[in-house]
Amino acid sequence: MKPSPSSPIGVFDSGIGGLTVVKSVMERLPEEHILYFGDTARVPYGIKSMETVREYALQITDFLLRRNVKMIVIACNTVSAAAEQDVRLRAGEIPVIGVVEAGARVAAEAPHPHSVVGVIGTLATVGSGTYERSIKAIDSSIQVFSKACPLLVPLAEEGWVDNDVALLTLEHYLADFKTKALDALILGCTHYPLFKEGIAQVMGEGTRIIDSADAVADMVDARLRAAGLRNTEGTGGFECFVSDKPQRFQTLAERFLGKAVHRVEIVNVS
Ligand code: DGL
Repeated sequence: MKPSPSSPIGVFDSGIGGLTVVKSVMERLPEEHILYFGDTARVPYGIKSMETVREYALQITDFLLRRNVKMIVIACNTVSAAAEQDVRLRAGEIPVIGVVEAGARVAAEAPHPHSVVGVIGTLATVGSGTYERSIKAIDSSIQVFSKACPLLVPLAEEGWVDNDVALLTLEHYLADFKTKALDALILGCTHYPLFKEGIAQVMGEGTRIIDSADAVADMVDARLRAAGLRNTEGTGGFECFVSDKPQRFQTLAERFLGKAVHRVEIVNVS
């Protein structure tokens, strides 16, 4: 069946991190219906090989296509870095938006051009060098420093985002950056906006913290309009699927989104 404006937007991540993108999309496009998949049985992705992440991403893409989504939003930097092209190929005519492109654009483009940019992400994202390439493709004069912060994803999945353990972990990871006079720091993992306050506290004033979620929401809006698929008459909606522990996900999701999440279903995509 060909997707129509009333079809859902498919959004996915390894776990709850993609909800940071969902929140922005819900705020900007309240009429749209969102179908979310969080791969809670296999999180974290960031410590796995590119091949494994690619395989998972394609399984999830197939699941979303079976649900007749009109667009796929890769709300996971690790997948965006490892498999965006593969997802695009599999999706065919269904538009695909990845978070890396959005984050790189915000960091590199006017009205806020930055000359020294830091990127934090998973081991896979940082190891891939995708952010550095994407930023330099827009402006090669920008200096980019990257740092993998693998412990942040398990902390976020545990809901430990603002306690002393989280703050000490952030201080440890960000120590190198404090001597580099960063103009901006990209949160290159969709779980990291959950630590936004702590990150801003550790980095201090003078470093702009870039969360690409709003930029992704803008891209979703523009691409849907361009494709004639923007739903301007709907009443919104949020359907949630996970690969394990739906109840736990529901509690974390409700806490983060600040509203009731009525349906979290377990599904096997492999
Ligand atoms: N939230 C994801 C990202 O943006 C993945 C984190 C993980 O599963 O390691 O990279």
